[in-house]
Formats: sequence, C-alpha cells, structure tokens
Amino acid sequence: MSEPQPDQILQVGLGFMSSKTLLSAVEMELFTELARQPQDLESLRGRLGLHPRSARDFLDALVALKLLERRDGKYYNTPSTDLFLDKRKNSYIGGILAMANNRLYPFWGHLTTALRTGLPQNETRDGNPNPFTALYADPARLKEFLQAMTGISHTANITIARKFPWSNYRTAVDVGTAQGDLITQVALANPHIAGTGFDLPEVGPVFEDYVNSQGLSQRVKFSPGSFFDDPLPKADVVMMGHILHDWDLSTKRMLIRKAWDALPGGGSFIVYEIMIDNDRSQNTLGLLSSLNMLIETGGGFDYTAPDCEGWMKEAGFRETRAEHLGGPDSMVIGIK
Ligand SMILES: C[S@@+](CC[C@H](N)C(=O)[O-])C[C@H]1O[C@@H](n2cnc3c(N)ncnc32)[C@H](O)[C@@H]1O
Repeated sequence: MSEPQPDQILQVGLGFMSSKTLLSAVEMELFTELARQPQDLESLRGRLGLHPRSARDFLDALVALKLLERRDGKYYNTPSTDLFLDKRKNSYIGGILAMANNRLYPFWGHLTTALRTGLPQNETRDGNPNPFTALYADPARLKEFLQAMTGISHTANITIARKFPWSNYRTAVDVGTAQGDLITQVALANPHIAGTGFDLPEVGPVFEDYVNSQGLSQRVKFSPGSFFDDPLPKADVVMMGHILHDWDLSTKRMLIRKAWDALPGGGSFIVYEIMIDNDRSQNTLGLLSSLNMLIETGGGFDYTAPDCEGWMKEAGFRETRAEHLGGPDSMVIGIK
C-alpha cells in the first residue's frame, strides 16, 4: 500500500484559484483575441491591459491548466478553447462562465451559510422567494442568464435534436425555453417540426432575436406565459431542460402533471438535466449542481433518472426510459 498523498485535497481545496483564472480569462476575452491570431506576451499584455507583474504568470498558468499552448514564445488557444471560448463562433459556451464569474462565484462564498440554513444565497437574499423575479428585474442580467443557458445546454440540445425519434412527431414545445436553443436545434435538424418556445414574457425579445438569427422565425414561435398560472401549449412532444431542478418536489410534480395534460395519447415528454448517477457517488457535476440549486433557489434540487421516472409514472405516463446524452447530461422520456 502506498502512503496517502495530499494531492487530491490540495487540488480540490485550492480549485477556486484555477476556476477564477479561467473566469477572468473569459471576462477579458483572451480566447477570442487568440482565435484572431496567436500572440506573444507583450502583444497580449497590451491588448488585454494586463499589469507587467501579472501577465506572464497569468498566461503560463493557463498553459499549465491546459487551456492555452505556448510555442516559440507565442500563445495559442488549444483546440477546445478555440472552439468553445471564441465569442465569434456559434459553438461559444462562455455564457455560463460569464454568469459563473459575475454571480455564482461571489454567491458560493456563502455556501456554509446555505448548508446550515437551507436558504438561497443569491439575489433572493433580499427576501424575494422566486429566483427569477430578482434576476429578471435587471435586463442585462436577464440576457446574460439566458445566454448562459444556451452555453450550458447547447451540446445536449444538438444530441436531443439528433437522437430522439422526431420522425414520429410534428409539433414540439420547449417549456422554460430561455434563448430557445433546444427548440432551435430540434427545428434545424428536423425540417418537418413546428416548434414553440414557452417562457415568461420578458424572455420574448431575446428568444425572437436568437430564433431569427437562425432563420427559423416562420417555424419556431414564442408563447409567453407562466407555468404556475397557465396551461402549457399543446404539442406532440413537451420538453423541459434544466427546469425541474429549479423547484421543490410538489412543484416538480405539478409541472410533470401539466406536461401530461398538454400531450396527446402517445405524445412524449422529455426531461433533461445534469442528472445525478443512480448511486449518487460518480457524477460530481450533478451533485455540485444540486448544491448550486441550494444557493440559487428556495427548494430546488437535482435528482437521479429513476427519481424522475417514478414521478412520471405517478402522473400517468405509461412508459419511461432514461438515455445518456454525453458528458454529465441525461434525458428521461415519458410516453403518455
Ligand atoms: C434554468 S433555465 C433553463 C433554460 C433552458 N431550458 C435550458 O435548459 O437551457 C429555467 C428557465 O425557466 C424559465 N421560467 C422560470 N419561471 C418560469 C415560469 N413561471 N413560467 C415559464 N418559464 C419560467 C426561466 O425564464 C428560464 O428560461
């Protein structure tokens, strides 16, 4: 038996340093800058406005973190930072990191308080129990949040658009659609599908800009409403991405029941999230995402696929199945 080592403890315990180094690099648009052209230290220092004391360590730390490469005195993006962190590409996922930098990073400083009190530690600390009311009061934060959702969901959205048997259906509604990337990807990959994005009215302009930019304004429409007050628009397929985890168990059940009501017999309900693995010991991101719901919401939590299938069965879905979507995401499908 080898001696226990402190490496894992130190790597996790000081992980906030790596995290903040990446978040600041995204904030300064370093990867977008390097996607234009590789640059040496002095040129990058000037372009990003870095102090002489910080520049070399900052850039070389990113090399050690495998987020940049350095060859012959010039810094380059790696293939993945070039694809996912260049703002000018459609594949950009930096929205979630911008939100992590501006909101989650400071809020997680209050994790111990959240663990002891069970109370959210975000904008709702000033007394508003609905996390979206506070967030949506500020248009800049609203847009940042909606773009962040596209960032975190885009890869799974493309997988759902390709993997689900869309040829059996004609209409789909995405509930809590945010910028609309899921319904957009479904419509792009399946030209016979007519789509609806359902969300709070404030989301409409951001949704419509995005859908128009993808040339889908004829086939994909916005439907304003609240899933607390209104029935869901009827469709052959109802989808909810990262919705159920925002809410407590009785709200989760209410939303699943509303999805059932919106579907015809034989219609499908797709729920997808960063789901926790069945043993609750492997999918770190799923478990940390559930702690993030503790920070962000009054009663939300993440869950396993069997948890979700159980709630669907209670609501009357006759068949359920779970499918992995790649990375930390899974979807659960219920058939009415
Ligand atoms: C965590 S985001 C998920 C966005 C998107 N489905 C995804 O997976 O990227 C939750 C979404 O639910 C929407 N939402 C919150 N409360 C709502 C309500 N009462 N009625 C309809 N949508 C709501 C928010 O505006 C937001 O777009």
